Amino acid sequence: MSQQKCIVIFALVCCFAILVALIFSAVDIVGEDEDGLSEKNCQNNCRVALVENIPEGINYSDSAPSHLSLFQGWMNLLNMAKKSVDIVSSQWDLSHSHPSACQGKHLFDKLQELLSQNIEIKLVSDILHKESRLLKDLRNKGAEVMYMNLTAYNDGHMLSSFWIVDKQHVYIGSASLEWNSLGQMKELGVILYNCSCLVLDLQRIFALYSSLKSKSKVPPIWSKRLYAVYNTDNKLTLKLNETKSEVFVSNSPKLLCPKDRVLDIDAIFSVMDDAEQFVYIAVTDYLPIINITNETRYWPYLDGKIREALILRNIKVRLLISYSKETNPLTFNFVSSLKAICTEVSGCSLKVKFFDLEEESACCFKEQKNCSTFKLNRNKYVVTDKAVYIGNFDWVGTYFNTDAGAGLVINQAESGNRTSVIKQLKAVFERDWYSHYAKSSTTKIPNCLSYKHNQAAANKTSLRNVN
Ligand SMILES: *[C@@H]1O[C@H](CO)[C@@H](O)[C@H](O)[C@H]1NC(C)=O
Ligand SMILES: *[C@@H]1O[C@H](CO)[C@@H](O)[C@H](O)[C@H]1NC(C)=O
Ligand SMILES: *[C@@H]1O[C@H](CO)[C@@H](O)[C@H](O)[C@H]1NC(C)=O
Ligand SMILES: *[C@@H]1O[C@H](CO)[C@@H](O)[C@H](O)[C@H]1NC(C)=O
Ligand SMILES: *[C@@H]1O[C@H](CO)[C@@H](O)[C@H](O)[C@H]1NC(C)=O
Ligand SMILES: *[C@@H]1O[C@H](CO)[C@@H](O)[C@H](O)[C@H]1NC(C)=O
Ligand SMILES: *[C@@H]1O[C@H](CO)[C@@H](O)[C@H](O)[C@H]1NC(C)=O
Ligand SMILES: *[C@@H]1O[C@H](CO)[C@@H](O)[C@H](O)[C@H]1NC(C)=O
Ligand SMILES: *[C@@H]1O[C@H](CO)[C@@H](O)[C@H](O)[C@H]1NC(C)=O
Repeated sequence: MSQQKCIVIFALVCCFAILVALIFSAVDIVGEDEDGLSEKNCQNNCRVALVENIPEGINYSDSAPSHLSLFQGWMNLLNMAKKSVDIVSSQWDLSHSHPSACQGKHLFDKLQELLSQNIEIKLVSDILHKESRLLKDLRNKGAEVMYMNLTAYNDGHMLSSFWIVDKQHVYIGSASLEWNSLGQMKELGVILYNCSCLVLDLQRIFALYSSLKSKSKVPPIWSKRLYAVYNTDNKLTLKLNETKSEVFVSNSPKLLCPKDRVLDIDAIFSVMDDAEQFVYIAVTDYLPIINITNETRYWPYLDGKIREALILRNIKVRLLISYSKETNPLTFNFVSSLKAICTEVSGCSLKVKFFDLEEESACCFKEQKNCSTFKLNRNKYVVTDKAVYIGNFDWVGTYFNTDAGAGLVINQAESGNRTSVIKQLKAVFERDWYSHYAKSSTTKIPNCLSYKHNQAAANKTSLRNVN
């Protein structure tokens, strides 16, 4: 008899414990973050600035818009840092003998200086970069370095690139912690200052990455602390330089999206769906294909979304793709196919151009300068009449399917006659679109005598005309 009693009491105690655990896990979601930051006390009166790296030698007209340099933007952020700097990056290499690497060196020195002032620096990297000199040096100086093995979960890589400084300021964009992002590569990103409401949410993506450090499996259930705070149905309302805006962050791949987190693909869909007049897209690569170890298949989602916008909604679409000797030749087939959809449909307006810096790169051989890399436009954004999406992915199926990346969506209904980040990004797109680097076809013969590169690749693409 007493044994039965024992069992009953034990069962009751267990039930009670489970109940308590459930209550606490439910409380966990509405409570404050460890930093005392909550939806009620966060800053929503933010400043915003576009940042760009424009490689040396690229010339636009004098009236072309120009923005804060990426280097200056990053240094401003680091100069503001009083407590913490959190960085996720796809590359980690700030030192190189190339002359354009000096800004990378300055950035490295600044990070070291912050560490010597006991400012907490946390870095998230793909395990691929375990041997990175930069990461080793920073760790030795006191930074916390967290490695994620994305191959283990998804056969993927870390392509995310964002910063959080003092839980208040944010950078997100195409550039990673790599000397080239401050040197030969054309990059674009956005910085938001005094914006802890946005940090509240972006911090959770960072926390999710940290929670996976050296784990070989994704947990079956995510902690509620990692759930999204804002999404397409519940956007964060704030002011960006006085302009009322609605924002949210997105994340990829699906495997790393807890409840309510918007996937990057859905964030882009939402931006394209909201457009009423135009959609301008700038990416390095356009390839609607998934090509991973055991699998190659067509990935129709963004390609299809463009077709829908063109045919069913008469939205004007402009697609600016980067061209280099590395460009996958199938890009031109997909682009031709996309263009064909407008045939004999009135009001259907699609134009595609290739942003080609190869001549710039080639000529640096001719002048015998020590140019060890090619210049490339690595911008990754979408801008419409209503919204912008600035992210970490080019429009390649494999990335969206398997790699880790993040994005930021900003919707602005009305900015009156004030400037706004949407107007600025539209002007950046138009600057590039009408520049002499943007070409409707890629018919070109390099005009530098000592221009030597992979002849096979050149033969494949140099005489191809996509018109
Ligand atoms: C840029 O430089 C090229 C070559 O030096 C020149 O032909 C072109 O006119 C320049 N463009 C502008 C906008 O300055
Ligand atoms: C990452 O995970 C994969 C698959 O589990 C494993 O083969 C690989 O060795 C891991 N990489 C490192 C650097 O640990
Ligand atoms: C952020 O807010 C602080 C305090 O309100 C202010 O001093 C600072 O100038 C702001 N920063 C920017 C970039 O607006
Ligand atoms: C897929 O990847 C393999 C190996 O990298 C490559 O050989 C092949 O050409 C790729 N397929 C396509 C369609 O790009
Ligand atoms: C590829 O597929 C084969 C057969 O289904 C399987 O045995 C192998 O483990 C797969 N390789 C990878 C890397 O997924
Ligand atoms: C470029 O610089 C590197 C390192 O300083 C040097 O090893 C290399 O020989 C140089 N190349 C040319 C073409 O000058
Ligand atoms: C901007 O709009 C405000 C109010 O609508 C108006 O008073 C002001 O003159 C306008 N400024 C310019 C430069 O058009
Ligand atoms: C917002 O204000 C900052 C200065 O505080 C300025 O640098 C930036 O260009 C402004 N951004 C927009 C979109 O007006
Ligand atoms: C590329 O084309 C050139 C000229 O037509 C030819 O001499 C060369 O052999 C070709 N290279 C390859 C790898 O096909």
